[in-house]
Amino acid sequence: MEKIEDEKIKLEDVKPDKNVRILTGDRPTGKLHIGHYFGSLKSRVTLQDQFETFIEVADVQALTDNFNNPEKVKQNVSQILMDELAVGIDPNKVTFFLQSLIPEIAELTVFYSNLVTISRLERNPTVKTELAQKRALFGESVTYGFLGYPVSQAADITAFEAKLVPVGEDQLPLIEQCREIVRKFNSIYGETLKEPVAVLGNFPRIKGLDGNEKMGKSLGNALYLSDTEDVIKEKVMAALTDPARIKKDDPGHPDICMVYYYHKLFGNEEECKNVCEECKAGKRGCVACKKELIKNIDNTLRPIREKRHYYEERPNEVKDILMAGTAHARDIAKETMIKVKKSMKLDY
Ligand code: TRP
Ligand code: SF4
Repeated sequence: MEKIEDEKIKLEDVKPDKNVRILTGDRPTGKLHIGHYFGSLKSRVTLQDQFETFIEVADVQALTDNFNNPEKVKQNVSQILMDELAVGIDPNKVTFFLQSLIPEIAELTVFYSNLVTISRLERNPTVKTELAQKRALFGESVTYGFLGYPVSQAADITAFEAKLVPVGEDQLPLIEQCREIVRKFNSIYGETLKEPVAVLGNFPRIKGLDGNEKMGKSLGNALYLSDTEDVIKEKVMAALTDPARIKKDDPGHPDICMVYYYHKLFGNEEECKNVCEECKAGKRGCVACKKELIKNIDNTLRPIREKRHYYEERPNEVKDILMAGTAHARDIAKETMIKVKKSMKLDY
């Protein structure tokens, strides 16, 4: 894998190799929705057969901006794990682990914190955007922990010597920050850590049911993997359509209609073509159109919901999966720690 030298590569350009380790993760702050499904979960199902895959439940990172709500973070650890299992990520192929149970990550974070300046963190584009949002939330004060979360994310990645990190565009500055830390570490303490590469997939950002560019819990416009058929129905019936269509024979503009947008995600090509043509010609009622979409969404989500239900009834099995994965992950982090301490002359 020495050939991967670029800071970022495209998913389709990476040759599958079970000896190459990839690491990705999620903050347990809410259940996963179809934005996550099309954005990352689907590709994880493919990646698990191609690489040695590690998936972190980043509870410590979630606390950086939810420190006053530990209950929320705790509850969502099992929720997102069940979402991942439900979409077909296989615990026999993938190592799931919980960040807070790997103290080596916290230790590395402390060591790395000497290798990055405060101004560099403040200039990190991802942090910068989030800081602007957080300032509105926390008032003027931003915590040291929040500002430093890219350092902790660098520890997540390097603790496992992960080579590839599949992420969305918004996370690229965090991977770049990690690479800088690795280079600095290696130049001061000697060649020790591996520089990771960001892998950009064809991960589309899914708009919300209300047409908002972003789907999210706080926006109230998300379709969750755990939503029941009735909830899906209710949400789709309330989705944004072309406001110019009052009567069935009014010619419509599918391009501004969220129902059409979702047809493109859940329907086949022919169905989408029909929706588009019939809508434009005023030959399709919005209610019928929504019903067809509900059926298609349900065809995709039903098996996921059923699998999720299996795990909902077996919380111990979910916990065992996380604990077994964490034990395996910790063994690897311990090995890295030995190397790091040796390089830093902390090997007492
Ligand atoms: N910051 C990531 C997010 O908000 C989550 C994350 C934590 C992560 N640790 C990671 C992603 C390590 C990739 C690698 O989505
Ligand atoms: Fe949207 Fe379908 Fe109504 Fe056209 S017919 S506006 S695509 S819901």
